[in-house]
Amino acid sequence: MRLAVLLSGRGSNFQAIHDAIEGKRLDAAIVCVISNRPDARGIEKAREYGYDAHVIDHKTFGDRAAHEEEVLRVLDAARPDYIALAGYMRLLSAPFIERHRHRILNIHPSLLPSFPGVDAQAQAVAYGVKVSGCTVHFVDEHLDAGPILVQRAVEVREDDIGETLAARILVEEHRAYVEALQKLATQRYTIEGRRVTFHALLK
Ligand code: GRF
Repeated sequence: MRLAVLLSGRGSNFQAIHDAIEGKRLDAAIVCVISNRPDARGIEKAREYGYDAHVIDHKTFGDRAAHEEEVLRVLDAARPDYIALAGYMRLLSAPFIERHRHRILNIHPSLLPSFPGVDAQAQAVAYGVKVSGCTVHFVDEHLDAGPILVQRAVEVREDDIGETLAARILVEEHRAYVEALQKLATQRYTIEGRRVTFHALLK
């Protein structure tokens, strides 16, 4: 399974995917890493590991379409089977999503459909839910809304603030992303409406 990773920051989910591949827990190859931010720690790591790493700084393009065109050009050359958004802080346009329908994945730090958008962990604490978690989903035209692949739950503690909950959710994010990717790599699946159903193992 050929995988592209798009990121904007720290890159701990990218790191988890890299570690899982190295540890033979994930049957995939990272064929390119793209950051829209030149200072992202994640893209530094990608270079250190010797990946095909690209900074495509959105600030240097006239508009969203021009930036996406360049991202798509790099993706076309890398020919990924799946595109994993790992803390990629740019919204993708409808034509971009349509071009890679059911091939773009995202991870979000809540149990969707609760708490989409920014600061999901702080939203969960403020709302007073007792359980939150993370969701790996296909990307569609709506924010944090596409068909769900994997979710993992995390208990919210009485003394949690956004940051403490975020730290515990992050541990589960790393597991959930690897689990979702490994399922895609090894299992047949069907998508009906919003529902993703995994079938028997391929091998
Ligand atoms: C994660 O919390 C992820 O759920 C959200 O952005 C954050 C990225 O963290 N979409 P990292 O860059 O992978 O460390």
